[in-house]
Amino acid sequence: MNKGVCWLEGSILPLEKACIPVLDHGLLYGDGVFEGIRFYAGAPFLLDEHLRRLRDSAQAIALSVPWDDDELAGITAAVVEAFDGDEGYIRMIVTRGEGPLGIDPAPCKTPRLIVIASRLEMVNHAARTHGVRLITAATRRLPPDGLDPRIKSLNYLNHILARIEANRAGADEAVLLNAQGRVAEGTADNLFVVREGRLLTPPVIDGALPGITRALILQLAADSGIEAREQSLAPYDLHTADECFLTGTGAELIPVREIDGRTLKICPGPVFQRCSQAFRKAIRKYCGGERR
Ligand SMILES: Cc1ncc(COP(=O)(O)O)c(C=O)c1O
Repeated sequence: MNKGVCWLEGSILPLEKACIPVLDHGLLYGDGVFEGIRFYAGAPFLLDEHLRRLRDSAQAIALSVPWDDDELAGITAAVVEAFDGDEGYIRMIVTRGEGPLGIDPAPCKTPRLIVIASRLEMVNHAARTHGVRLITAATRRLPPDGLDPRIKSLNYLNHILARIEANRAGADEAVLLNAQGRVAEGTADNLFVVREGRLLTPPVIDGALPGITRALILQLAADSGIEAREQSLAPYDLHTADECFLTGTGAELIPVREIDGRTLKICPGPVFQRCSQAFRKAIRKYCGGERR
């Protein structure tokens, strides 16, 4: 069970044995929602926050989630228990379920729940230690009147296009701008900059997913006396930042050393280091352990 395990239809299977029917609308149309949740020392981190966002995403796309929070927590505990290791990453997915070919969700009567426990490394150790290189992508974040950024849906295609741009440019990650050219976020992470000691992150209205790690960092920074707030940012604010870092469940905290070929002033910087320490302390407090 090294690659991971998956809860499906009431059973826990080795990940490579877990299969779903090809008529699932999650596969056919990306019709569904998901959460990524880390666990440390055998305990899921910020599970309530993730379950709340999953329900909000599902409600926003009129998808019913017929499992209550206790059931979802129980399934999460069961996959963590079955997983080989006490630290890892959970992917909880609710799809529209099976239906005929055709986009209409109405004939899909039974939502499908998939809960995977596996590992996820977004960047290697060297990049995590010395910082990553970003590019701003030509591909824009979808506008909120097309798809609200608060919905964590199975549709990531424009983020994938941005990531392809990063790959082609030899960068580690891409920053998506919104249609107005304001900074939204990374392809699977939120973005913070430090300017004159202030920690700034783009507001949700500019196209950021309201990240659970982002909210925690805003809180931890404020608790440690760092002025931290949402602020609309332009590419100029990235290029001229003192520090920059990425946050996310998968990413955890990743320092940024270069954006569009501009080397930032300091990486990893002092504000990053303080946030990172506070983050590790929060994990210890919540889960009783940590990875690094
Ligand atoms: C598009 C996007 N933005 C930001 C994040 C970070 O959010 P969180 O900290 O809740 O994982 C994610 C992570 O799933 C994401 O997919």
